[in-house]
Amino acid sequence: MVDIDNMSNRSLVMEQYSSTNNLELRKSLHEKYSVNKLGFQRWMFEQYPFRTKMKVLELGSGRGELWNYYLESDVLQGYEMEITLSDFSEGMVDHLRRSFPDRGMAVEKIDILEIPFEEETFDLIIANSMLYHVKDIDSALSEVRRVLKKGGLFYCATSGMNGMIQYLYSALDELGIPYQHGSNLSFTLQNGMELLKKQFDRVERRDYEDALAIDKVEDYIDYIYSMTSLQGLDPKKYNVLLDHFNTKKEKGFLRIPKEYGMFVAGKQ
Ligand SMILES: C[S@@+](CC[C@H](N)C(=O)[O-])C[C@H]1O[C@@H](n2cnc3c(N)ncnc32)[C@H](O)[C@@H]1O
Repeated sequence: MVDIDNMSNRSLVMEQYSSTNNLELRKSLHEKYSVNKLGFQRWMFEQYPFRTKMKVLELGSGRGELWNYYLESDVLQGYEMEITLSDFSEGMVDHLRRSFPDRGMAVEKIDILEIPFEEETFDLIIANSMLYHVKDIDSALSEVRRVLKKGGLFYCATSGMNGMIQYLYSALDELGIPYQHGSNLSFTLQNGMELLKKQFDRVERRDYEDALAIDKVEDYIDYIYSMTSLQGLDPKKYNVLLDHFNTKKEKGFLRIPKEYGMFVAGKQ
């Protein structure tokens, strides 16, 4: 097994997100098969304490999915907030600009390691499912703290160490299939609190209860082949994986654990 730090290799991450196709494929698995029908994005969106005239920055916005909930709400749009969506990938920034033209939201190309704003600019900063891609998490969090106002809040969602990826790796180990171990464990629900406490005064963890129940296993195998950390996976193993996961079905469903949640960090 080759053990390389794929998930936080900057050029690989850039390449992965240069097109939105793989991200869409992975999102659709969650949408189709999640047991908790509220949806992780909606759950996250409902946590944010929006208020009038707030200045909001999202880092690593991806497709900017969260903001569809914002556009659905006349109440929130009435708050006249200044919202900036951003990503360091040109592909994602293009996608955001196309998706949210003239909707009162700014779109900027921003690397979390170098946020081009002055000290204490934002009331609320969001960075979901992206910190584990960043090589130097301490520097990223210090940049977030720098541009956050006193009394401001930082919301960052991530995954845990007992979820989908661990389930998949243990299956690949069982089957003797070699894979490149993507280390997405640099910022998890387990270690995030400690990392955030170095920069923030108050940190709270919130969990989202969920799992996948999959009847069409082919969708799961396509998902596996779309993953950044498994780009080298042998295409000839497709049927081996399909047979393996089909035998794991119970009452017609392959059940896969998920462990997702978020931290809320405050600056005093
Ligand atoms: C898994 S996606 C998450 C997208 C979105 N936040 C969500 O929760 O659906 C990670 C995103 O972070 C972006 N990203 C990775 N490293 C970054 C960095 N150093 N600065 C800004 N964005 C980054 C990627 O381009 C990608 O769009």
